[in-house]
Amino acid sequence: MLQNTGSALSNNRKVHAIFFSPARSTKKIVEAIASGISDEFIIHDITQGLHKTIELKADDIAVVGVPAFSGKVPPIAAQLISKIKGQGARAIVACAYGNCHYEDTLSELSNICVKAGFVPISSGAFVSRHSMFPELGKGRPDENDLAKARTFGKQSVKHSRITLKGELDTDIIPSNRPKGVVPAVVKSTSDCNFCNICTRSCPTGAISRDNPKKTDKKKCIACARCIEMCPYEARKFKGLMYQITKKRFVEKHQSRKENEINLPL
Ligand SMILES: Cc1cc2nc3c(=O)[nH]c(=O)nc-3n(C[C@H](O)[C@H](O)[C@H](O)COP(=O)(O)O)c2cc1C
Repeated sequence: MLQNTGSALSNNRKVHAIFFSPARSTKKIVEAIASGISDEFIIHDITQGLHKTIELKADDIAVVGVPAFSGKVPPIAAQLISKIKGQGARAIVACAYGNCHYEDTLSELSNICVKAGFVPISSGAFVSRHSMFPELGKGRPDENDLAKARTFGKQSVKHSRITLKGELDTDIIPSNRPKGVVPAVVKSTSDCNFCNICTRSCPTGAISRDNPKKTDKKKCIACARCIEMCPYEARKFKGLMYQITKKRFVEKHQSRKENEINLPL
């Protein structure tokens, strides 16, 4: 376990970076926010499940991050976060989104965190490469985004000290009703080497161990983890519906979006 050395914090207060991040952009953002609070923090990568109980103390600060999937928290991430014991720890709630909309993601994540025993103190949505349509948000989060994430971490702790309760009024987090799910299937190409890295990396166990070219469509959440992890670039989004949606989507969401943060009033 890492010792907290951050100057902004008392000695017994630990900083936790907790994230569900199939294609690793959320990870970058959460770690940047945490590094704005303290030089050292404890990393909990829950992308492939909770391997042990995560229990915080009331004095601790957590940065909890997920990607926006169809404008919501990925259900599997919601399940995993609700098993964490927040025990009154302050939480900075964050999401990565692929230059479209994060819609309900932050407000839903805030509610999940409250139910898990956290006290949300701030929230932020950060633009990142769209893992389903990589033309969107290309190259992001960039150095500038990560610098903003670090500043946001620092500001969140400062604000929570000076406001009366140090608690975010979660009603100020914008939320929209998500519009629907993009139909997408991930398949293996002939470059598949049967190494089974995708099978081992899949958060939902959707890829067959005996034949990694077989994906269980009912289990696959199209999170792009297998695409990210495959050393042979043999996993791809496929299908006519995907191709049609992709063209429309990329055209519609091309204009650059910005990061959005909410701090206590
Ligand atoms: C299934 C799926 C649904 C997505 N839905 C949205 C969305 O509604 N809005 C958006 O802006 N980006 C959306 N994205 C893009 C992700 O939010 C973005 O790529 C994020 O950085 C992924 O995080 P990760 O790299 O930690 O996996 C979606 C991506 C996937 C794979």
